Amino acid sequence: MAIITIDGVRLTVPDDRNVLESALQAGIYIPHLCYHPDLPENGSCRMCIVEVDGEEQPVPSCTLRPKDGMVIRTRSERVDKLRVLALELLLAAHPEDCSTCPKYGNCELQTLMQYVGANASRMRVRIKGARMEEGNPLLIHDMNRCVLCGRCVRACKKLRGVGVLDYTKREDLETFVATVHGKLLKDEDCRFCGACAEVCPTGSIRDKLQAAETGKTKEELTVPCRAACPAHTDVPRYVRFVKQGDYDAALAVIREKAPFPKVLGYICNHVCELDCKRREVNEAMSIRNIKRYAAEHDTGKYWRGKGKQLPDTGKKVCVVGGGPAGLTAAYYLRKQGHDVTLKEALPKCGGMAQYGIPAYRMPRNIVDEEIAIIEEQGVKIETNCRVEKPVDLLKEFDAVLLTIGSHEGVRLPMEGSDLPEVLLNIDFLQNASMGKETGMGKRVIVLGGGNVAFDCARSAKRLGAEEIHLACLEARDVMTADDEEIEQAQEEGIFVHPAQTFERITGTDHVTGVDFMNVKAFYFDENRRAVIEKEEGSEHHIEGDTVIFATGQRPQGTVDMGLELGRANSIVVKEGSNAASVDGIFAAGDVVYGTKSVIMAIEAGREAAQEIDRYLGGDGDISEVLAPEQVKDPCIGKEEGFGYLARKQPELKTAEEREDNFNQFDFGICDADICGEASRCLQCDLRLMIHPPRLWNEFSNTEAAEGNKEEEVTVNA
Ligand code: FES
Repeated sequence: MAIITIDGVRLTVPDDRNVLESALQAGIYIPHLCYHPDLPENGSCRMCIVEVDGEEQPVPSCTLRPKDGMVIRTRSERVDKLRVLALELLLAAHPEDCSTCPKYGNCELQTLMQYVGANASRMRVRIKGARMEEGNPLLIHDMNRCVLCGRCVRACKKLRGVGVLDYTKREDLETFVATVHGKLLKDEDCRFCGACAEVCPTGSIRDKLQAAETGKTKEELTVPCRAACPAHTDVPRYVRFVKQGDYDAALAVIREKAPFPKVLGYICNHVCELDCKRREVNEAMSIRNIKRYAAEHDTGKYWRGKGKQLPDTGKKVCVVGGGPAGLTAAYYLRKQGHDVTLKEALPKCGGMAQYGIPAYRMPRNIVDEEIAIIEEQGVKIETNCRVEKPVDLLKEFDAVLLTIGSHEGVRLPMEGSDLPEVLLNIDFLQNASMGKETGMGKRVIVLGGGNVAFDCARSAKRLGAEEIHLACLEARDVMTADDEEIEQAQEEGIFVHPAQTFERITGTDHVTGVDFMNVKAFYFDENRRAVIEKEEGSEHHIEGDTVIFATGQRPQGTVDMGLELGRANSIVVKEGSNAASVDGIFAAGDVVYGTKSVIMAIEAGREAAQEIDRYLGGDGDISEVLAPEQVKDPCIGKEEGFGYLARKQPELKTAEEREDNFNQFDFGICDADICGEASRCLQCDLRLMIHPPRLWNEFSNTEAAEGNKEEEVTVNA
């Protein structure tokens, strides 16, 4: 340690740290530009010059090591003048008009100009004439704004160990920062970590998507997969653990947010993948399959018998409905110490994962396995137990949560919809799941374009239907089913007809087919009413003996519950809450918002558990840390062809092998490929480790730095 004095303040500082860093840490501002706390210093901009007693010339404080007894002044007439001159030289080649800059109001250079009092118009302006490069994924290179501070070059080379960017000289001797071989970033093996944009003080290298344009926070924009997951599962953290081969730790990360990691590994609708930044580079990460691999290789080391279990509170909660929302809420309420009973109307819990989604997609032993863990936690489960009057339960329980889902198929009001061979999605899938007679013939027409419609069509195939057509209003590119569902169904011989209106179901006593018309346009107007424009003269008919409506579901049995109901018999809850219209009764999941996804149901269950815990006198904090701390190495290094690494595909049985049975056919990513897939991650979260710039208005010494102060400060090593 050394004792130095800066502007009259005596500081005890580590002698291996430069004076600028020590001053900033002690709350003393010294202007700086090329310096960044996460990068090695290069001392090129001279913004940080200071006077040192005994030195003839001012010296950059970012390269100055402290010596015992050193006396430093951050400002003097000479220093101020030199800073103005240095900054004006930099500004001579920088566009003069800040107001058109995307970084306006968020630019370090702009704030530095204000502090130093520099004015670009005093210099003879040079135009760099660099072309704005917008051909890269995720990033824009706008080198006319570059002031050659070199932060991006050091971030790429030294912080990340990648070395894609460097200084280069044009024929006219103008120096630029550019890619080493002058190629686009992907062809230079850029890792697209975003460190260059993060440290750039001017916006010369910046994200294509700026936070202000999206209304998202910086963190949401930086790590979009985590933000997109309804439960905010820490995707980069578990992907990194998988890459390291630590599947126990990866699974513990997922279990911090969701008690059904294996189920999710099979059927999560993976909205995280839609927002994955890797998608801009080539193909999104296979996040769901990585989760599945972790779940299948977990030994329970970090969570089984561990995690939170608060002492018993003496409060009793009844959860009605054993789907993912109800099971999740029950699990966390039990962990908060409440006595939880879950009542399920069907013979088994699991909701759509047990009775809706076919077994070839969601093997039932996995659902049962994860429900058993919830029972092990102490949740009492009563099956074959239908609750009709939840209000009556309040005599026995302190709170009641309704998570009964949407288990009633919707019959569209159209000609022929009451013919005997017209079936409803939920009944059909439930009967198929339970091995019961479905009432299906040989030529089946499914109406609907979501995953449930494909479940119906593909189940019909497996149950022996010979010709299956699936038609929906939506055009192919906006169908709500997952692409893989659509593609696999087509491989299995199912005919998919997007952009169709359902005119009528034909037949007098029995279904003979459906009349359709082509849809020219389908959208919702300002009153959220569906508008369908049909193509004139496009009437056509598809013959069939069975029609399955897969056009939506609604809750069953809510009408007589004595609660306020909303659209399609959903249960109304107070805004921003899960509280229903009767005190002590709560509702969550599909029964509130309609049919969504398993991961949304899990998040709804978590939110309900937090609110009910608070209602019962708890603090509502259901968070738990299960995974070990992760060491993140910011030096990711170069990898040849990184931007071109293809998404690893799961191992699938062929259409012929799978189309006549309900056996599992998707075996996920294999052992040989899993590390490779996890290694494709851009590790966007590393960017959040980079320190944000500290601007002069954060420091108290910037108003009146002068004058001797009788202070003593110790700067930690
Ligand atoms: Fe010290 Fe640039 S910040 S020379």
